[in-house]
Amino acid sequence: MSFRDPFVERFATHPDWGRFMPPPPPLPADRNPIDLVGVDAPLTRLKRSETTDDPIWNGIAARINAYPLRTSDQCSEQHYHDVFDFLRINNGVVRRVVECGVFHGGLSVQLAGCALASDLSIDLVDVDPGALLATWHRIARTFPEALDRVRLFCGELPNYVQAVMHDPAFDNALVHHDGSHRFNVVMRDLSALYFVRKRVHALIIQDTHLRHSDPDNGCFVDAAVAAVFGFDPHYQPIGVTFPGTTFPVGYVPGERHNVYFQGGRPEGMMIPFAENTFLYPHPLIHTIDDFVQCPATPRAVA
Ligand SMILES: C[S@@+](CC[C@H](N)C(=O)[O-])C[C@H]1O[C@@H](n2cnc3c(N)ncnc32)[C@H](O)[C@@H]1O
Repeated sequence: MSFRDPFVERFATHPDWGRFMPPPPPLPADRNPIDLVGVDAPLTRLKRSETTDDPIWNGIAARINAYPLRTSDQCSEQHYHDVFDFLRINNGVVRRVVECGVFHGGLSVQLAGCALASDLSIDLVDVDPGALLATWHRIARTFPEALDRVRLFCGELPNYVQAVMHDPAFDNALVHHDGSHRFNVVMRDLSALYFVRKRVHALIIQDTHLRHSDPDNGCFVDAAVAAVFGFDPHYQPIGVTFPGTTFPVGYVPGERHNVYFQGGRPEGMMIPFAENTFLYPHPLIHTIDDFVQCPATPRAVA
């Protein structure tokens, strides 16, 4: 494969690349988990609403809000709430959630709470082992009793699919995608799901309303959805839909590293697999290996 994303290559030499990581040892209480991430982002003290009409959401929100350190949530609260609602409605149908792209664990920590409420297994997938560790320790400090339901996978979604596609325990899955936003990478990630499509209930993909000021950034998540599922997939909107073009706080006109949100397009899409067809890849042409940028390196024998 000639395609290479430099952000991915940066992590692909890690000894756990393309594998499930062993459960990490506890982090000393005076260490801040997000120091493990190694990628800067503005931190916030975002709070989730604790006064909705759903006591299960309120209980999960209260525990997330009690986390004493600053961290970041990269999706809107509406998006997080819609994912919660999807799992509530599909209680007993979805048994495993695969989250691709965890960063500081904004969704992951909520999924850990949902895992306890709905008897779920959670697989967290990220190229950055530091993000996986930070997320693990955020969960450890928020829902420690959920840790034995959580696995960490270091790599991209195609690496993960390679690892689980022959495992019968991988079934009845919801895949949440908020990893790379680059067309080439997202198209590969979604294509990989073709090889486990019968065991995936639905895909929720975030930032389908996002655009980047630098064309070379290739930030076209919705276009990657169209490449794989066609221009008119059956989907339900997830998260916020802005009425018109919306600029985030801090947007500087003319600056090359800006993003904006398209008006009238949803923050995320829930794509049920039973109601959609993969137009790409093609079973006579492709195998899962065609979508793996950086394969797992064989472990050295001691
Ligand atoms: C926007 S953040 C995820 C935010 C998170 N879902 C939340 O609720 O706050 C994107 C994450 O995707 C990871 N990432 C980037 N490219 C990736 C790829 N090709 N495969 C898997 N993860 C990727 C980054 O390391 C980062 O942790």
